[in-house]
Amino acid sequence: MACYNYRDLGLVNTAEMFRKAYEGGYTVPAFNFISIEQMNAIIDAVIEKNSPVILLASPNLHRQLGHEMIARVVQAGVDRIAHEGLNIPVALHLDHGMSMEHCVLAIENGFSSVMIDGSAKPFEENIALTKEVADYAHSLDITVEAELGILSGEEEGQRDSAGVKETKYTDPERAEEFIRRSGCDSLAVSVGTCHGLVKMKPNPDGTLPDLRFDILDHIRENCPGFPLVLHGASNIAPEYVEMINAHGGHIEQTAGIPDEQIRLAAKTNVCKVNIATDGWICALAHTRRILDENPGAIDSRVFTLKTRPLMKELYMHKIDLMGSENKA
Ligand code: 13P
Ligand code: ZN
Repeated sequence: MACYNYRDLGLVNTAEMFRKAYEGGYTVPAFNFISIEQMNAIIDAVIEKNSPVILLASPNLHRQLGHEMIARVVQAGVDRIAHEGLNIPVALHLDHGMSMEHCVLAIENGFSSVMIDGSAKPFEENIALTKEVADYAHSLDITVEAELGILSGEEEGQRDSAGVKETKYTDPERAEEFIRRSGCDSLAVSVGTCHGLVKMKPNPDGTLPDLRFDILDHIRENCPGFPLVLHGASNIAPEYVEMINAHGGHIEQTAGIPDEQIRLAAKTNVCKVNIATDGWICALAHTRRILDENPGAIDSRVFTLKTRPLMKELYMHKIDLMGSENKA
């Protein structure tokens, strides 16, 4: 049942955001949130930096918070921006929608943009599913992101028993046909990033491979002006991994995407970069540390009040990398 229209919540779709980012040579930051503290930290950062932002909510978040809650929490964030006297564009985007049903539920509940992730399907099926979503979404002025190629790692919303999938780089020759026939407004591409903790495989000499900028260039030549999206772009800073492991956790230090690669990608036809894992591990590392330091704590504010400014700092750093400061 339709509850909210995105415009009533003060949201925008991603069309104008991407047009400006493409022309301005920067990227719009897209941050997943899984708690109210995290949402507040994201809004704190975009207010301080006067940056446009895309808030990412996955089907898992729908199950966790309920769709009514997501729209209201986001609306509160948008209201806070307005109360500061700022006019910052905010989009609420479904991350890794896996079916028409996921997309319809999001659209009926205030999302201004949706991703339909048919990347695991054969080419023709991916086109057909994306087109079905795009036809419906466009009738309501909602923007649609699709995915072509496969990122290894666990994709939010499609974790299956198979776990890690093989990387399949996006074929730039097929991207043009996919975009034209599916009607999508932006395309997530596989150029060397990965979801989750397991990311880059270092070269034998210990250096990290570059992202496949040649694929981005090739698509720009075939599809000038068309915005691309990077998923799996977290950095996995050793600082957080070490803190988690020093306070009772046990996770592996892996090689994330170097900041410099994100800074370079942000200047290309990439107009949206997704960050989830860095936000999770920042919050969790400090939460573990603070709980260890406060064994007598009896409520969660002992860590929520302290992790919010630390997450804000992380998101401000991401905004710097993407070049979106003062681009609201
Ligand atoms: P990370 O796991 O690298 O943060 O990727 C996030 C993402 O792509 C969400 O869709
Ligand atoms: Zn993703």
